[in-house]
Amino acid sequence: MSLSEFTAQLDALLEAGTLAFRQAADGEALEEARVEFLGAKNGRLKAAQKGLGTVDRDDKPAAGKRFNEVKQALEAAFDEAKSQGGAAADPRAIDTTLPGIRPATGGLHPITQTIEALKDIMGRLGFTVADGPEVEDERHNFEALNIPLEHPARDPKDNFYLSHDGVVSQLLLRSQTSTVQIRVMDSTPPPVRIISLGRVYRPDEVDETHYPMFHQMEGLMIDTHVTMADLKTVLRMFATSYLGEDVHIRFRPSFFPFTEPSVEADFYWNGSWMEFGGAGMVDPNVLRAVGYDPAEVSGFAFGLGVERLCMRRHNITDIRNLYRGDVRFLAQFA
Ligand code: DAH
Repeated sequence: MSLSEFTAQLDALLEAGTLAFRQAADGEALEEARVEFLGAKNGRLKAAQKGLGTVDRDDKPAAGKRFNEVKQALEAAFDEAKSQGGAAADPRAIDTTLPGIRPATGGLHPITQTIEALKDIMGRLGFTVADGPEVEDERHNFEALNIPLEHPARDPKDNFYLSHDGVVSQLLLRSQTSTVQIRVMDSTPPPVRIISLGRVYRPDEVDETHYPMFHQMEGLMIDTHVTMADLKTVLRMFATSYLGEDVHIRFRPSFFPFTEPSVEADFYWNGSWMEFGGAGMVDPNVLRAVGYDPAEVSGFAFGLGVERLCMRRHNITDIRNLYRGDVRFLAQFA
C-alpha cells in the first residue's frame, strides 16, 4: 500500500469514528461505537494498523506518525463524547423547533382495499365469504362446471397446468373462481348465498388490461325460488354501493357452460358502459353434479373482475401499475 492510500484510509476512519462518537445517543451506543472503532481486538483502528506493515519501507516513519496522530485524535473524540454522556443525550444538541421525522407507514394494496370493500357490500346483502385453493383439479375447474373434456377452455395452452418431473399433471392454477361454487355446494345443502374473492391465472399476453394473474369475485345464490330478477337486483345494488348512485346495469345475452341462460353484465358509470363479468342462472347440470335437485332449487351465479372494478373507480388505466410494486404509485392509495 502507498503512503497516500494508507493516510486516506486513516482520515476516513477518523472522520467516521468521530461522527459515530458524537452521534451516540446514550452511554450504551457510545460503548458500541468505542468497540467498533477502538476495540483492542477487532476494532477498525486495529485493522487499519495492519496496513502499516504493507507500506513502503521509506514511508514507514511518516505512516507510523500519522497512525499515532489519528489514534490520539480518535481517543480524544471518544473522551469528549464520554464526558457529555453521549452528545445526542445533551438536550442542547436537539433543536426542538424543527418538525419531527414522520415514520413511513405502509398501506393496504389497492386490490386488497377493493376486496375488503366488496366483502363489506356483499356482506350487507347477506352473502358470506367462502374460500378455495388456487391449485385446483379438473373436476372443480371444469367437469362439475359442465365444461367437458373436448371444450376449448380446457386447452393446455390456455391454462397453467402443473407438471411434475416433466409430466403434466391434472392439477392447474385455477382459471376462474367458479371452482368455489362447486366446493361450497359439494359440502353444504341449499340454501347457499356466498361470494368468493381470490386470484385466478391465465396465460394471457400482458398489456394495459391483461395480466396472467388477476382477481375475481364469484357470487352464488341458491334457494327455492331464485330468478334472474334477483340476480339483476343484487348486481344493481352492488354496483350502486361500490360506484355510486348514478350507475346503470345492462345484461347482454352470452354463453357460459355453467349457466343457462347466461349474460354479460355491463355497468354504466361516468359516461360509458363497461363490461364487468359474466353471470346467469346456474345450469341444471351443475346442480346435479353436486347432488342438488334442479326440480327443487334454482340459483344465480356471477363472476366479476376485481381489477376492473378497482381500476374503474380509481381511474387506473394500466393493470400493470397494480403489480409493478412501485411504491410511488401504491402510496397514492395508502
Ligand atoms: N367464470 C367466468 C369467467 O371466468 C365468469 C362467470 C360467468 C362466473 C358466469 C359465473 C357465471 O359464476 O355465472 O369468465
